[in-house]
Amino acid sequence: MSSSAVRENGGHRSALVEMQLDALYQVSQVLSRSADLHEILSDVLHVLHEAADMQRGMVSLLDPSSGELMVGAAHTGHREQLEKVRYRPGEGVVGAILKEGDTLVIRRIADEPRFLDRLRLYVPDLPFIGVPIQVGDEAPIGVLAAQPAADDGLLTERARFLEMVANLLAQTVRRAWDLEKERQALTDERDRLRREVRSGYHLDNVVGHSREMRRVFEQVRQVAKWHTTVLIRGETGTGKELIANAIHYNSSRANGPFIKLNCAALPDNLLESELFGHEKGAFTGAVAQRKGRFEQADGGTIFLDEIGEISQAFQAKLLRVLQEGEFERVGGTRTLKVDVRVVAATNRHLEDEVEQGEFREDLYYRLNVMPIFLPALRKRTEDIPDLARFLVAKLARAQGRPLDITDGAIRTLMRHDWPGNVRELENCLERAAIMSETGTIDLDAIQLTGLEDKLPTPRKNGAPAPETDLDDPELDERERVIAALEQAGWVQAKAARLLGMTPRQIAYRIQTLKIRVKQF
Ligand SMILES: Nc1ncnc2c1ncn2[C@@H]1O[C@H](COP(=O)(O)OP(=O)(O)OP(=O)(O)O)[C@@H](O)[C@H]1O
Ligand SMILES: [Mg+2]
Repeated sequence: MSSSAVRENGGHRSALVEMQLDALYQVSQVLSRSADLHEILSDVLHVLHEAADMQRGMVSLLDPSSGELMVGAAHTGHREQLEKVRYRPGEGVVGAILKEGDTLVIRRIADEPRFLDRLRLYVPDLPFIGVPIQVGDEAPIGVLAAQPAADDGLLTERARFLEMVANLLAQTVRRAWDLEKERQALTDERDRLRREVRSGYHLDNVVGHSREMRRVFEQVRQVAKWHTTVLIRGETGTGKELIANAIHYNSSRANGPFIKLNCAALPDNLLESELFGHEKGAFTGAVAQRKGRFEQADGGTIFLDEIGEISQAFQAKLLRVLQEGEFERVGGTRTLKVDVRVVAATNRHLEDEVEQGEFREDLYYRLNVMPIFLPALRKRTEDIPDLARFLVAKLARAQGRPLDITDGAIRTLMRHDWPGNVRELENCLERAAIMSETGTIDLDAIQLTGLEDKLPTPRKNGAPAPETDLDDPELDERERVIAALEQAGWVQAKAARLLGMTPRQIAYRIQTLKIRVKQF
């Protein structure tokens, strides 16, 4: 190159730098405007065209879901037409820039074998510069490309300039995407809430679409909003504990503790220290101070299961906590105050117990502020198919193998009257699953569980079927309790009377003899 040519090129170069500085300023102004991303990109390309001599600009952005590049904006050409054009990474010149993450400078685009001309945008005789759009060292998220008006020997400088613009664009695109993601998350959340409100009867892990269960779901939603005491009633196995959980986890206390206590499992003195805690030395064995369940449940919910089983003396103590929210630890004098929502459950007919003077009336009213009655399974047989499938899926997870159930098996299940309700159904299906080698629970598997025996069978002369003699010395303790429960239609209090036990005694026996399998 002659010295005059160098000088001329030098003058040319400073003119270019000046022009580019001005263009950069304009780009920064475009970027600082808040507008929709497509508009910003189009405006930037316009500035490049008008102020930086970089023509036919085009921005392609990665579509994160498909991994393809789509044209985000182009200075010329129709938007609709451009939107159809896509490149896979590596495909064509633009795809290659995205894949390699390197700037590409081509003196004459027509000479480039990878040039696909999908956009029909470029002038074949002119140079082409494409740069990756990327934030820092991250993988490129798009490509910015344009054609200088001529090959003036300053393609490297032009490429630098285009890189600067691409860096600025990268921040803007990333911000727009983040905003879009946030907006999407908010819409999803709104839609989810809407669906939840609309369906109204869906609670996690609680299956049922019968009218009776829909009413229960509605009640759960209502009570979950408030802090009132809830009394859940229903026969054994109808899902009282499940509903207590649902109330807690659908309430504003969901992030607080959920503490359970089975009142039937403990004698009075232990029950008291369990619930209220005790001070060190309060009784033999109280070697250290201990917080009770009420204190543990502060800010959350306490679930008092089998509340119908507590003694008269204990009823009085409980009444005070419910009324005043206060109590003392056993052996302590300091009065403690807690913020606890009480959910209680019972399968007893509390009104009868009140009538007979076995349950305090004042406590009954305190507890019965918001009663929720869980219907017996035999009153809502239409829920059995869904329940059976749900429970089989749960068993499949527990057993770690695929399980399914035939329609014939489900029909048989619907004919049974389920005195032990959902728990009995669950146990029956578990036994059937064990019997089934193939993993398909069919009629045979159900019958093998002995369910057929309980199906209402025509009885000769209307005479009742022979019942197990509860005094039969051949029976062991477990068989005797089960026989009594069966004869009592699984009503524990009745079975207790048959055996000459107190309800608490039978509840305790049932637990220690593991007659009801709660968890797998
Ligand atoms: N609607 C339901 N959907 C799904 N599973 C249920 C439903 N109702 C009950 N179950 C399941 O049945 C079993 C028994 O339910 P749960 O322990 O809540 O009954 P319960 O009323 O507390 O019985 P009990 O009075 O004998 O203590 C549990 O494994 C529970 O998950
Ligand atoms: Mg229970």
